[in-house]
Amino acid sequence: MLELMDFETKHKPRPHVNAFVRLHHGITEEQRVQAAEKAGWNVFQFPSEMLCGGDLLSDSGTTSMTTEQLSALILGDEAYGSNWGYFKLLEAIERNFGLNIDEWEVYIFHQARAAEHALFSHITGENLTIPANSFFDTTRANAEANNIEALDLVSDKIKSDKTHPFKGNIDIDALKEVIVNKGGNIPLVYLTITNNTGGGQPVSMQNIKEVRRICDENSIPFFLDACRFAENAWFIKQREEAYSEKSIADIVREEFSYAEGFTISFKKDGLANMGGALLIRKDSKITNRYPDIFDKLRDHQILVEGHPTYGGLSGRDIMTIAVGLDTVVQERYLNGRIGQVHEFGSYMAELGIPVIEPFGGHAVYIDSDEFFKDTNIKRKDFGGISLTALLLIKGIRLCELGAFAFGVYNPDTGEEKFPPYNFIRAAVPRNKYEIQDLYYVADCIKALYDRRDMIPKAVPVWGREKALRHFKARFELC
Ligand code: F0G
Repeated sequence: MLELMDFETKHKPRPHVNAFVRLHHGITEEQRVQAAEKAGWNVFQFPSEMLCGGDLLSDSGTTSMTTEQLSALILGDEAYGSNWGYFKLLEAIERNFGLNIDEWEVYIFHQARAAEHALFSHITGENLTIPANSFFDTTRANAEANNIEALDLVSDKIKSDKTHPFKGNIDIDALKEVIVNKGGNIPLVYLTITNNTGGGQPVSMQNIKEVRRICDENSIPFFLDACRFAENAWFIKQREEAYSEKSIADIVREEFSYAEGFTISFKKDGLANMGGALLIRKDSKITNRYPDIFDKLRDHQILVEGHPTYGGLSGRDIMTIAVGLDTVVQERYLNGRIGQVHEFGSYMAELGIPVIEPFGGHAVYIDSDEFFKDTNIKRKDFGGISLTALLLIKGIRLCELGAFAFGVYNPDTGEEKFPPYNFIRAAVPRNKYEIQDLYYVADCIKALYDRRDMIPKAVPVWGREKALRHFKARFELC
């Protein structure tokens, strides 16, 4: 019998079924235009309940939770000190990250940026630089707000290579050079796995290991931004020969074994809707430069978040993270999750939409410069903003992460300084959409790609000069 059934199929079942659904309201395109105008065509200000296609603004906190997580949520213990879930969370971190929790300082925060803020506020000194593969926008902003230079070190060669399996890798030669030049002014080195800003691209284990080695040689602490640690591990298994036979669980443990500290948002690979943390090894080199950092961080946490055992989270949220961490490292889950992102990306590529390849783990990135290459739209016209604005009318939300989001306007000269990347990101929430929803998104983008000559410019009418302007600015399309 099994021989008869020995065949492969083009389509595979998802690793889950729907346990709940949310019905869309009957919103018209005219109503969406009105709402978008009211929102100044800023996608962040657009009411999400008016979206009927894919809300691909972010994969962060947008997860549909599993029934296991939802049932754990009910068990949440809302005690003011040492709630039950806190201990469950520590166990889940130990089990999944392979840490002996007694050797670590654990600080829970309501989300990762609060953890980053705490860390960077206590890294003090003159002319400090933190090298990374790439900083995420809020991570960079938190470093810069504390007068620390946030230095991205992904090589142009890697960026332009369509076949490179680990486009998130830090450029090792560039890192060595920075260490020679800035030596004593580097309080730590940071690796973001996967590299969100650079297209959701993975970092190889070899790269992680090598960075740790270089850091040890130079007595510099090594930290991870581990938001998408499980998706990164999946790529290592797929693409790094020495790991093809290892389990995801083992690869995850190895990733963390090299880190002396890490920040993490449980809104990504915690499969939860809220949560973040900062963990630092008690014997980390960071205490050489900052001997009282643990005390300072603990006080900071209590001042702004709450008791260390809940750190800004409800007991219910904590329970969902504890359970989510056990699910996210399952290969079956990751095959479905990253498989869906890749199917979405491949369909866009088939339609001729200029997307960044190979695809990353959580999102498909459209190359905005390529998209508008043969039109009148130049970087200063913020075509990516226009595209995301127009898609709102079709009930779809994407995010511009390029000329506008990462550009800087000088009001004195009227000049814009543009970032190296100019992308539009379609981030896929976990466990939420079916491929049909994503095909619809791709079809709408394709229709606009075919009409790209007619896409209007986006003119910022408010907030152009502000920091983190993409969250706040208002536009007119003309
Ligand atoms: N680091 C990375 C790599 C991220 O992608 C994010 C968030 C953070 C840190 C901050 O985490 O939201 O919990 O404070 N990224 C989301 C995104 C917001 O849409 O990519 P947080």
